Amino acid sequence: MEDACKLGVRNGSSTELTVLCDALVFYVNGIRVEEPIPDPEMTLLTYLRTRLLLTGSKLGCAEGGCGACTVMVSSHYSLNACLAPVCSMHGLAVTTVEGIGNVNSIHPVQERIAKFHGSQCGFCTPGIVMSMYTLLRNNPSPTTKEVQENFDGNLCRCTGYRSIIDGFRTFTKEVTCRMGSQCCQNKTNRDVHEVKYQSNGGTEDQGFEETKGNLEILGPHLSTLRPFDSTQEPIFPPELKVKHQKYHNVSLRFTGPLVTWVRPTSLSELLELKKNHPKARFVVGNTEVGIETKFKNQLYSVLVSSSHIPELTTVEDTDHGLRVGGSVTLSQLDKELKQRIKTLPEFKTRIFTEFVEMLKWFASYQIRNVASVSGNIMTASPISDLNPLFVAAGATVEAMSKDRGRRTLIMDKEFFCGYRRTALNVDEVLVSVIIPVTNANEFFQGFKQCNRKEDDISMVNAGMLVRLSDSFVVNDIVLAYGGMGPTVVLALKSMEAAIGHKWDESLMSKMCDLLPSDLTLTPGSPGGAVEYRRALALSFFFKFFLRIKQACDLETSKSDLSALQPMESSELKSIQVIGAQDSRSKIKDCVGQVVPHKAGLQQSTGQAVYVDDMTPIQGELHMALVTSTRSYAKILSIDPSAALQLPGVVDFVSAKDVPGVNSLGIKMDTVFAVDEVTCQGQIIGAIVAETIDVARRAARLVTIKYEDITPLIITIEEAIQHSSFYPDVRTIAVGDLDRGLSDSWHTLSGECRMNGQNHFYLETVATRALPGEAGEMEVFCSTQHAAGVQEDIAAALGISSHKIVVRTKRMGGGFGGKETQSSLSAVPTAVAAHKLHRPVRCVLDRDEDMVTTGNRHPFLGKYKVGFTSDGKLQALDLELYCNAGNSMDLTIGVVERAVLQIDACYKVPHLRIVAKSCKTNIMSNTAFRSFGGVQGAFIADAILEDIADFLKIEPHKIREANFFQTEDFTHFGMNAGGESVRRCWQMCLDKSEYISRRAQVDQYNRENRWKKKGLSIIPVRYGIAFLKSLMNQGGALVNIYRDGSVLISHGGSEMGQGLHTKVIQMASDTLQVPMSLVHISETATNVVPNGLPTAGSVSTDLYGFAVKSACETLNKRLEPVMKKKPKATWAETVQAAFEQGISLSATGFHKTLGLEYDMTAGKGKPFPYFTFGAACTEIQIDCLTGDHKLLRTDLVMDVGNSLNPAIDVGQIEGAFTQGYGLLLLEDVKVTPDGTHLTRGPGNYKIPAFGNIASQMNVYLVPDSPNPKGPFFSRGVGEPPLLLALSAFFAAKDAIKAAREEAGVSREFRLDSPALPQHIRMACADEISKRFPEIDARSYRPWTVNL
Ligand SMILES: Cc1cc2nc3c(=O)[nH]c(=O)nc-3n(C[C@H](O)[C@H](O)[C@H](O)COP(=O)(O)OP(=O)(O)OC[C@H]3O[C@@H](n4cnc5c(N)ncnc54)[C@H](O)[C@@H]3O)c2cc1C
Ligand code: FES
Ligand code: FES
Repeated sequence: MEDACKLGVRNGSSTELTVLCDALVFYVNGIRVEEPIPDPEMTLLTYLRTRLLLTGSKLGCAEGGCGACTVMVSSHYSLNACLAPVCSMHGLAVTTVEGIGNVNSIHPVQERIAKFHGSQCGFCTPGIVMSMYTLLRNNPSPTTKEVQENFDGNLCRCTGYRSIIDGFRTFTKEVTCRMGSQCCQNKTNRDVHEVKYQSNGGTEDQGFEETKGNLEILGPHLSTLRPFDSTQEPIFPPELKVKHQKYHNVSLRFTGPLVTWVRPTSLSELLELKKNHPKARFVVGNTEVGIETKFKNQLYSVLVSSSHIPELTTVEDTDHGLRVGGSVTLSQLDKELKQRIKTLPEFKTRIFTEFVEMLKWFASYQIRNVASVSGNIMTASPISDLNPLFVAAGATVEAMSKDRGRRTLIMDKEFFCGYRRTALNVDEVLVSVIIPVTNANEFFQGFKQCNRKEDDISMVNAGMLVRLSDSFVVNDIVLAYGGMGPTVVLALKSMEAAIGHKWDESLMSKMCDLLPSDLTLTPGSPGGAVEYRRALALSFFFKFFLRIKQACDLETSKSDLSALQPMESSELKSIQVIGAQDSRSKIKDCVGQVVPHKAGLQQSTGQAVYVDDMTPIQGELHMALVTSTRSYAKILSIDPSAALQLPGVVDFVSAKDVPGVNSLGIKMDTVFAVDEVTCQGQIIGAIVAETIDVARRAARLVTIKYEDITPLIITIEEAIQHSSFYPDVRTIAVGDLDRGLSDSWHTLSGECRMNGQNHFYLETVATRALPGEAGEMEVFCSTQHAAGVQEDIAAALGISSHKIVVRTKRMGGGFGGKETQSSLSAVPTAVAAHKLHRPVRCVLDRDEDMVTTGNRHPFLGKYKVGFTSDGKLQALDLELYCNAGNSMDLTIGVVERAVLQIDACYKVPHLRIVAKSCKTNIMSNTAFRSFGGVQGAFIADAILEDIADFLKIEPHKIREANFFQTEDFTHFGMNAGGESVRRCWQMCLDKSEYISRRAQVDQYNRENRWKKKGLSIIPVRYGIAFLKSLMNQGGALVNIYRDGSVLISHGGSEMGQGLHTKVIQMASDTLQVPMSLVHISETATNVVPNGLPTAGSVSTDLYGFAVKSACETLNKRLEPVMKKKPKATWAETVQAAFEQGISLSATGFHKTLGLEYDMTAGKGKPFPYFTFGAACTEIQIDCLTGDHKLLRTDLVMDVGNSLNPAIDVGQIEGAFTQGYGLLLLEDVKVTPDGTHLTRGPGNYKIPAFGNIASQMNVYLVPDSPNPKGPFFSRGVGEPPLLLALSAFFAAKDAIKAAREEAGVSREFRLDSPALPQHIRMACADEISKRFPEIDARSYRPWTVNL
């Protein structure tokens, strides 16, 4: 330390600092790191990954929103390494996932997430492990609630979260061990994964139970797992403890190429710096500044860390309230407030209590642990969550400048004086803020409403304070709102009018008239949903009104009090009933066994290698894309000259560098746009540079001149208006539609639509292209279709496919998004590598990925339906439109799938569907799990719901009335599997106790005015095959080595779905060798050629059969050897075969026969079989805010004889959760001119831990062998996504109850996604009616429905 950090006045030059340290010193995983010249622009994550080659921590978003980069800083808090500047680590100890364990010495946290099946693609896993580890380091025996709440900053797109929580709750107090002295705490780990099956279903392997609740967990016996012993964890580095003063009382200055980092340690230094560098940014958590520099292209040449100034980091009690230093972190604030709430009288801490409540919903642990109070105030964001509370509370800020000293400012209407501006002068520092204590007659409340409860920015928030006289007359009132203007808005007229008014109903009605005039928003304001936001602002006041009445014991109706009840939430309960094991099972037989994901332990230890984790080779360059910023325009010129001048830039590549064909296999997509662009995000060129940061900076300097072309077509409606369709129209007709409609007792016409969805796989698309000799190229790519990427690269380079090898070890999720879209960036990478003859790496940033790749197709259905008085469908005339985007990509498959799914599980005797693909100027939409299927089923069920409402019959009865009978055929000529559907349905009715719970829900709804519950049960039937017959084929190669080990290669790729695990199980079963002898390394086009995309739930079937066939060939060859020496071991047999010259390598191939479907002719068979299921979901909604909570879901799936129940359950839960996101949460925001506003987790919200149902049960249907699937199984990847329709229709059911109570019709249209804004406004009460929908044609909306 002495060497590294010299104390002394900075030599000669004028400086504000008295002492300097000339090297950054910190510890990583117990090892001292000394960096003499740290770059202040570098984040901790980049440092860990590129300098220390610790690639366990992942980059998922770079904006603190996904948690993949979570590390622990001691002692002991988690943070997002993607936002933490590496310079801020001076004197700290960092622990990464590598620091706590590895596959040879696994840490209990890493072991449990893997063995409880909580890691699928694994990209989120290290971050989740580190969040859990941090919790345990602070609290070795947490409660289940604490575990559940611990992950508000971590996202997972694969698992649906249940398995992660169940795995980690084994650390909790509530889980007590049945084993007594045999408890795992006293035992060493044994690697046992045995699950015994009960013949009536259910697991009986539970080594533990909860003291309360019903818990059946699909996981190993606790006694087989490593115990967590906090005393065995690494200690805090002694040097940092001993020399704390030297590290933390020392001022720092680190100068990088563009930015200088300064860390003063006294207020006077800080003031001096502020005076001399008025444009400098202060940095505490860097959670604002980091976003500005990364995503808003800001460059601040001086960054001043204000985290080490005593006056700014202390918290103290004063007569007026709590004085909180500006740099105090939000977690620290939370802790301090909670302490006061415990000790002070209740009336004094009413403001404190509401701050604590607000902090719970503020960002995530990782953010709150570093983000500061002053950072929030000084950013002055219009949607800051704390600022309305500060203003309502009348907080005071102490500001200070070098020249004018201290002054105090009240946080009133003058404080936030403009968009992101405060009343502080440029040379002033926010030293502290005082949060007042309350008097007995003062009441205070905070509100926040966003789309997702956890870690989301507010739509509207508010702080409200009232001072009442003894006779409940308003002496003073402050109503401060966020999200209602460019800054915090005070409802001044309303406040004034309320003074002197009694706190009674007449005040409420007065406010109903006044508040809307205070809180105006022009249609099309940023943020959109203006009617909702205004209704919400009034609804908040209504809640405040009731809350104060309740607090003052004023008379309030019981039913109204439901407005104040929190949403029901309980500790997670879950059951997984995995059916009976079939009679094939033998000891060694792995098929059907519960086996964790084969790479689970590598993933949970951070040792699993994804493309960007590969160590760069010498000379490797980085590439950043240059994309279109116009939706439809001529390219007039492209000028990269400014970019090329930036030091470190190597080249600019564009269409002229493509030696072969400048187009991709995806119909109509160009590698690089040439004369025109047809959507924003279309790739025009790419910058290649020495580092990725330089490449990105340079890419922004490429100047492109455009000339807009009209008409610009963004939405389905605009495409219809301009007849902008792709030529392939799909039509299907059965029966006599006209007669069917005219014979119907009733007809209804309507529309429904489902919007798009971003894949949001945690690992963005990544490629490394390594040129070789004579045109050869090796490409590592995160793709679902290695052979497709190979073909596209070969065509673009004008080189034969045999010289291009594409390799995919694993993907951090795909979900269809890496089926064709990987080529979009992979091919330019190859072009650059080919041109420069150097290795090139291109890893898309989250925003690049979201803008350049397509989404799920939005669909619009226009229907006319005829039916009987008991709801039986007679005829359906349906026009389907999907938004294809600027190229066809896979749209025709999506449309065909939607057409085939349109009957869901219901018989329609007379039917006509005409389906059109709209050609629009948005990024080409693409494959996404259950593509077309979920849209088709959604429209079918929406129509059925409309019929139910029209006839006033319960929807489940209408569904039952329309089920296919056993002998019935679908509109595409296959037996409809009516019996299987009814079996799942009945099982779901029974398991969910639907009938009795229906009555309970209705009872609840009668008693509660402002909270409603909804319940829905839906059936699912899903065909398993690619609709193109030639795509239903797959190959494999099985090699046996002389030591008896087996290596499998097949055409499918692993993206977390457990394909490799299942294939290994099938090989192990066929060869009768233990799974430990069988390995799959990667997918490679030079080993198994011409592979098809891993998609459509068919890969297990195709590659399972192919591998089985190869294994059977090998078995045949080995048979004579075995017969000769029946007692020989496997290895001896293999060796003997080798010695006899028997080939130990065999290929296998499978083609699904009999699939020749022609939709136009209506002939043939599209699927070999169906997968069936049913789901029942209960939801609760808040009628005043539109919030919702899933209370319980029961998912029944017929997966045949499950190959691996744990993986199947994981697929079901993960797909359900993804479908829930599609239907109730995820909002792709695009402006009328085609700009994607959703570019990362900050503004695109996928389901988080807090979104899962309080009770989540999965039941696999027992005894349902499928003769057409490998080992009698059924495909499972996609079908369960449709189960989430039950959540959507449960929300609709709840809204209907609210509408009924409000005296409006139950019939209304609800499109997907049903966001809080839609739920709230559909409740149609006295408040929402004040804000009628504004005619969309009368203004330019902020965003449009695609
Ligand atoms: C993933 C994520 C989620 C978020 N969620 C929320 C949320 O739910 N609600 C919400 O309100 N915000 C949210 N934010 C915004 C942000 O976290 C907060 O505003 C936070 O409080 C900023 O604190 P910081 O210390 O990180 O600020 P920094 O980035 O370090 O600084 C922010 C600004 O404050 C100025 N500043 C800091 N201290 C002083 C001082 N003492 N005197 C003068 N100027 C000063 C700096 O110059 C800088 O301009 C989120 C951000 C992220 C990245
Ligand atoms: S990468 Fe850091 S939070 Fe997503
Ligand atoms: S396992 Fe969590 S994102 Fe894939």
